[in-house]
Amino acid sequence: MRKYFLAGLLFIGNVCFSQLNITPMPAEVKMGKGFSTIKQPIGFILVDYDESDSDNDGTGPFKNYLKKNFGLTKFVDGDTHSYGLPTEIFFTGPVKGKGKDYYEIEVTGNKIYIKGNSLGKFYAFETLKQMISVNAKKQIVIPNCTIKDWPRFQYRGMHLDVGRHYFPVSFVKKYIDYLATYKYNTFHWHLTEDQGWRIEIKKYPLLTQVGGCRDRTLIGRYGSKKYDSIKYCGFYTQKEVKEIVKYADERNITVIPEIEMPGHSTAALASYPFLGCTKGPYKVMDTWGVLDDVYCAGNDSTFTFLQNVLDEVMQLFPSKYIHIGGDECPKERWKTCPQCQLRIKNEKLKDEHALQSYFISRIEKYLNSKGRNIIGWDEILEGGLAPNATVMSWRGEEGGIAAAQQNHDVIMTPGTYCYLDHSQTKNEDSVTIGGYLPLETVYSYEPVPAILNAAQAKHVLGAQGNVWTEYMKNPAKVEYMIFPRMTALCEVLWSPKEKRNWADYERRLPVIFERLNKEKINYSKAYYDLKATVLTTEDFNGVYWKIESKSNKDSILFHDYANLKSDCLIKQFGKIPDSNTIIGFYALPYTKRILCTDNYGYTLIKRGIETPLIMQTFSFNKATGKKITLANEPNKSYPGDGAFTLVNGVQNEKGLAKSSEFLGFLGKDMDAMIDLKTETNINKITLHVLDQNGSWIYLPSQVEITYIPDADYTADQLKNFPKEIKTIDPIKEKGAKTITIESKQKCRYIKVVAKNFGTIPSGNPGAGNPAWLFVDEIEVE
Ligand code: ACM
Ligand code: ZN
Repeated sequence: MRKYFLAGLLFIGNVCFSQLNITPMPAEVKMGKGFSTIKQPIGFILVDYDESDSDNDGTGPFKNYLKKNFGLTKFVDGDTHSYGLPTEIFFTGPVKGKGKDYYEIEVTGNKIYIKGNSLGKFYAFETLKQMISVNAKKQIVIPNCTIKDWPRFQYRGMHLDVGRHYFPVSFVKKYIDYLATYKYNTFHWHLTEDQGWRIEIKKYPLLTQVGGCRDRTLIGRYGSKKYDSIKYCGFYTQKEVKEIVKYADERNITVIPEIEMPGHSTAALASYPFLGCTKGPYKVMDTWGVLDDVYCAGNDSTFTFLQNVLDEVMQLFPSKYIHIGGDECPKERWKTCPQCQLRIKNEKLKDEHALQSYFISRIEKYLNSKGRNIIGWDEILEGGLAPNATVMSWRGEEGGIAAAQQNHDVIMTPGTYCYLDHSQTKNEDSVTIGGYLPLETVYSYEPVPAILNAAQAKHVLGAQGNVWTEYMKNPAKVEYMIFPRMTALCEVLWSPKEKRNWADYERRLPVIFERLNKEKINYSKAYYDLKATVLTTEDFNGVYWKIESKSNKDSILFHDYANLKSDCLIKQFGKIPDSNTIIGFYALPYTKRILCTDNYGYTLIKRGIETPLIMQTFSFNKATGKKITLANEPNKSYPGDGAFTLVNGVQNEKGLAKSSEFLGFLGKDMDAMIDLKTETNINKITLHVLDQNGSWIYLPSQVEITYIPDADYTADQLKNFPKEIKTIDPIKEKGAKTITIESKQKCRYIKVVAKNFGTIPSGNPGAGNPAWLFVDEIEVE
């Protein structure tokens, strides 16, 4: 494996370049010539700082870091200089006229000079840590340079849901360390959920005794209806909470607690059923999702309870903000609850949305009276925003935009860029909530929407990575989901917009991985995934399977799972490899042509990192790779790879409906024409489809095949060519994945029309709307 020398030292011929491997990239960096070496004992001196108290001078965690990682154990503090003792690290005081986060580092002449304001000094140490080579021993060697640095956004957050799964104090502290390393300044601690109440409240002991436990937990993905039979419990005592808040504070991190209301609260309702509209009984939830039982908004005792809870929470958390949730609160119970309806009447509220707004505003008023401000998820916009609320925009950016336009502060956490519970690879082999959020997409995020004017843009305080833990049962999985993506998001939040540079981040990524390795932190290697695409060929005869890596320096290991058969023709650029030989160092694109029905697998080896195998099964038939045209374009949301998707030889595997493999037609028919190139005998045509009525997807009501002999034909002739029509009985065929039509025909062209089901009947999800038709493949034998 390649070793990373110093801080990214690169020797090219006789020229020596040095680059800094600091993430997030500092605002200003000037490289000097050569290197400085700092040997122990290392002298620290603080000049011009009021805080002479050495416990609080910021050097403690840095010294611990040097001890733990580099065997540097001898330090000398204070004005050693004047006693003729060595001094290598100088703090030369704050910098006037700059923000509290500002710092400067100068490395020159075997000395390190640091200037920094109150928080900047801490960030200077975090930067310094990353300037030291991962492999340094007994001495520090750093490229000479000058750094001036400050953050772009004031709110740089990471969230952790401990409701779905509980994580021990030791891991929460580690998580805070991760935040500190990447210069985040806010830990959003999601402490209460339907599946568990995790914070001790002395006045209401049942919240943790009852609400802290669920009887069992769902196995596999949501909807599996399978459960373990293990009682699952966990909560943080107030002593532990204080310890964590202090630990975070020592690392410049504010902890914002989230106490969810009015929804996601069944653990509280199970503990104290008087809090609900129906008065229970309720149980702590054992599966995920959104539940109808929420706090009763009509009952004053709900507010007394929440105020008492919040009193204790405010005692524990000194943060300016308290997050009160506000998301995903169904209004079902409120609609039929006499007390809630009475509240709507007495308060002259328009509807249940206004009742939610009343709920949030009432809590806001209470917290404001105690000198605190609320943050809520973007649903708090519905029915009217509470006067001083900050909005966390998660269902896209629209909520954030609307709030900023109303002069409210905003924190951006849109699912498409910031939900670190989404899959980061298309080859994910563990259960996740789904979605696809690769590293590049996180890195590309711009938190200030272009539509906002300058004054509104100032309301965007920053952004946050969200970590919902339905499918993260242990710390290793959390680490796998957040790394390396949180190292991309930190650069979005810290570095100047014009400094953000994917190519440079990519250059630093191997060093980020080296540091994670050294700290034994689990992380995803999805960045190294191969990209596989199925392409049409120039002569419409077979398909190409194109395998690409991000760099042409990669080795690609080929596995032939199918023992190449003699009738299987493989052409590729370069020689046909033997099984399990490295065929790598390809120039891009590496293109391989496969003309058989078989299994192929590739894995990428890059600088010592082996990525998961990607495999593809091709189901070849007479239509595969042939020219195909569509009379109706598929819907923009499900375009696949265009018409070719229907003849690409790739059929849905393992029964998992991957939407990218389907063409979706909304309210329209699929009307395809396939050119088989020559007159061909046809025995059977199979349409691969999806029947998933819960998602508004229906089987076609009819499939019509027209067999066209050759050459030109008129519309009139088309009517008279041989046809086969199959009507589909939606009840009998329920859940069908294929529709087959037997035939005895000879033709050159086949026209296949699958009639859309039409309007969704009443009593079904989406009733009254046009149905979706999903087609994956047209197979001709
Ligand atoms: C959320 O993801 N429900 C805020
Ligand atoms: Zn009620």
